[in-house]
Amino acid sequence: MQLASHFRITKSATLAINEEVSALRAAGEHVIHLGFGEAGLPPHPLLVNALQAGASLNHYPSTAGARSTRQAIASFFSRDRGLPTEPEQIVTAPGSKALIYALMQATDGAVVLTRPSWVSYGAQAALLGREVIWVDAPVNEGGFPEPDALASALEDATAAGLNPRLIVTTLPDNPSGCAPLPETVRRVAALVERYDLLHVSDEIYRELIHDPDFDVLSPADVSPDHVFVTGGLSKSLALGGWRTGFLRVPATEFGSIVRDAVVAIGSEIWSAMPAPVEPALELGVSGAPQIHERIVESRRLHGLVVNSVYDILVDLGVRCRKPVGGFYLYPDFGPHREVLGTKGILTSDDLAESLLRTYHVAALPGTAFGDHPENLCLRMATSMLYGATPEEKIAALNAADPLSSPVISTNLKQLREALTALLS
Ligand SMILES: Cc1ncc(COP(=O)(O)O)c(C=O)c1O
Repeated sequence: MQLASHFRITKSATLAINEEVSALRAAGEHVIHLGFGEAGLPPHPLLVNALQAGASLNHYPSTAGARSTRQAIASFFSRDRGLPTEPEQIVTAPGSKALIYALMQATDGAVVLTRPSWVSYGAQAALLGREVIWVDAPVNEGGFPEPDALASALEDATAAGLNPRLIVTTLPDNPSGCAPLPETVRRVAALVERYDLLHVSDEIYRELIHDPDFDVLSPADVSPDHVFVTGGLSKSLALGGWRTGFLRVPATEFGSIVRDAVVAIGSEIWSAMPAPVEPALELGVSGAPQIHERIVESRRLHGLVVNSVYDILVDLGVRCRKPVGGFYLYPDFGPHREVLGTKGILTSDDLAESLLRTYHVAALPGTAFGDHPENLCLRMATSMLYGATPEEKIAALNAADPLSSPVISTNLKQLREALTALLS
């Protein structure tokens, strides 16, 4: 167990690297951008129509969200996630990020996070002055802590008077693109119940599980009374900038109390999700055939490209967990430590810096995800490889063989060359 009592609050690492890449590009450099976790695809035209139709909605919506929107999201959970849900169990917000922050604020005590995990969980805990109890993920899984390590971390934390109150897990994971085995989910759920933690299950990438053989189990299936599920359309339908977050609370008295606290926090900070976005969000969760088809096509493209980058990495002797969902990889360049050391690369920050400055590949260092500096890990997002224009991106989405499309194959070739140069 390690406590991170001082987490530097700076601009989110993922947003910062995006700006750095833009500056390099403006200076005429060609950069392969694996740094930014945007879904890299244009919005579906039907969603654009719905947003346009909503443009005249200029009232302040209720903080929890319009009843019709909450009903649509409740139907989505009942139909697609197998979790019977009523509209009263749903809260919407401008992004699930805001909801995760509100859930942390609504509870007190220490926050349990997986190492590595998404940049903003640790940063949000720090904003709230909370202790973080970091617990490593199992070797070939992601987004969940290793259960034995979690058990001893909770025991130590409780003995030290830290009062762990909340755990956040991610299914599937950012940064690794991996997911927990069902057994891990069950064992973590049992500990969550024993310590009476509030469990936030961030499932924003859930529709993008591209490995057809992966057996998905949500903690909400195992422990329905403890688990608060967050999600939205930022990733599955590439609507990050529209801010379409939602939260499902358990159908219990505790669920209602936490919901009311989240709504109270929202009412003082963001007021509500923007009204014009509500019709698009309703369509996005409706299961309408064209929207469903778009999600299926996106999942396929993300899976093909992320797996071909995985193949390049493994070919070059880099250690990497095989992703099951989303568009991320978390390679470990540890096997090349000696060669990298001769280039002055001793930490993941050095590695990301050198990769960007010398080889023009942008990726985030493992430290942004709570990892130890000396672990030579990077988070690579592969969704920016589909092209620069909406036309190129749609062509990639519709291609029978996206990997042989000129844009993607050139990007993959250049990435292989850059990594080969780094490692030689
Ligand atoms: C794990 C994870 N959760 C939440 C979010 C943010 O989602 P939203 O756009 O709904 O705020 C992201 C975005 O990068 C993410 O990677």
